[in-house]
Amino acid sequence: MIFPRRKAPTFTPETLVGKQAAAAAAVATAKRNRSLSIFAVVLSVLLFAAFIYNEDVRSVSELPFSGSNPKSSNDDITAAAAVDISAAVQSTEVSEKARQSEERRGAREDGAGVLAKTAVRLEEGCDMFAGEWVYDNATRPNYKEVDCEFLTAQVTCMRNGRADDGYQKWRWQPRDCSLPEFDARVMLERLRGKRLMFVGDSLNRNQWESMVCLVQSVIPPGKKTLVKNGSLNTFTAHEFDATIEFYWAPFLVESNSDDPNKHSVPDRIIMPDSVEKHGNNWKGVDFLVFNTYIWWMNTLTMKVLRGSFEEGSTKYKEVDRPTAYERVLKTWAKWVDENLDTAKTMVFFMSMSPLHIKSEDWGNPEGIKCALETLPAVNREQPLNVGTDWRLFRAAERVIGSMKTAVGFVKITAMSELRKDAHTSVHTIRQGKMISPEQQADPGNYADCIHWCLPGLPDTWNQFLYVSIASRAWEN
Ligand SMILES: *[C@@H]1O[C@H](CO)[C@@H](O)[C@H](O)[C@H]1NC(C)=O
Ligand SMILES: *[C@@H]1O[C@H](CO)[C@@H](O)[C@H](O)[C@H]1NC(C)=O
Repeated sequence: MIFPRRKAPTFTPETLVGKQAAAAAAVATAKRNRSLSIFAVVLSVLLFAAFIYNEDVRSVSELPFSGSNPKSSNDDITAAAAVDISAAVQSTEVSEKARQSEERRGAREDGAGVLAKTAVRLEEGCDMFAGEWVYDNATRPNYKEVDCEFLTAQVTCMRNGRADDGYQKWRWQPRDCSLPEFDARVMLERLRGKRLMFVGDSLNRNQWESMVCLVQSVIPPGKKTLVKNGSLNTFTAHEFDATIEFYWAPFLVESNSDDPNKHSVPDRIIMPDSVEKHGNNWKGVDFLVFNTYIWWMNTLTMKVLRGSFEEGSTKYKEVDRPTAYERVLKTWAKWVDENLDTAKTMVFFMSMSPLHIKSEDWGNPEGIKCALETLPAVNREQPLNVGTDWRLFRAAERVIGSMKTAVGFVKITAMSELRKDAHTSVHTIRQGKMISPEQQADPGNYADCIHWCLPGLPDTWNQFLYVSIASRAWEN
């Protein structure tokens, strides 16, 4: 994929003048100084000199450090400092006073400042998506349900009466490598001065809520806001001048289901060649994460409009689902190739989020949809068949493979198929209202086996995004 260009940091002494610059420099130095021992700084400068001498700056991003947890070792500190020349050089301009206070305090461990400007490392050639779920109540969940004020009632399963919390405690373990852990400060540093936008259906909204929760814990109260405005929901991390947004477009292309509030239309009709109306809202965004799946699944064919909604057309023809899906993705792909600055933008496409409707699919004839499930499907010899339409996966793969833009295809489908335990089931809202006790007692009719509880599975999807974004080399 193409490397996104990093904007100049908003807080560099060079961009300010006079007293302000001096003050800023002092603050910046003090900040960095807190988290970096003198030894590490000197060593990192030497290291960097060595890299420059070798004219092998690329190897900076390949330094052997585990990366995810800035606390873990001095190697991390060295590597993190080496990643950014300017930070390392500026950090050597340490005032005597700051140095003394540094010595008194010892190296701070909170990973702020320079430490956040790191590149995490994923072993080369590792397939993140091939692996297994392991129970790990020491590191999961990534955050507590009660600690994320931005979660909506749709996904707060514990608050909505779910009794077991085991679904929060599974960690995805790739078979051939380790997956760097999500580090909110590192992510926010990547997002500084930038926009990350999820575009798609309610599953992408599910994932957007997860991303907001994953980063929000390190932002103090009053420095973060969430604004909902029509099709666009925007979370802002003010001190980072960063946004994490969700844009409602369940088919990506124009459809009669585009109203963000009233989209429960019985006959879903799409305009497969029309994406500009939505696309105009995606231009200039730095990180784009697309999906579309669930809205395709309630009929075997898709209704394709003849003409346009604007002209008042109502006639449509019915097109085989995979054919229509591929046509839509081609429209989307063309738009991406023609309208995004690939040097500046990272684009992702999420593969399908699976459903768990028939408990026979995972060998539990006594089950009721996903409602009674408390464990993932583990140790399986055979792949699960939960009714996923893999034809759409292959269509997405084909289209993405034919694009000029390098799009990250995030293959969440198979690993998510195992998570029959992780849906919101009857611990959710329905048509805007909390499910009633009567409905809760009738999971056969009311269990939602499409969406996912948070914290939960979508946190891992975001870990994949995080690793892709945070493993790029920083541009200097
Ligand atoms: C984690 O799970 C183990 C095994 O079930 C249990 O013994 C331990 O108390 C749990 N720890 C926490 C922090 O919940
Ligand atoms: C909401 O969105 C509309 C349309 O994009 C825009 O004109 C308006 O300024 C937005 N309002 C707020 C409060 O952001």
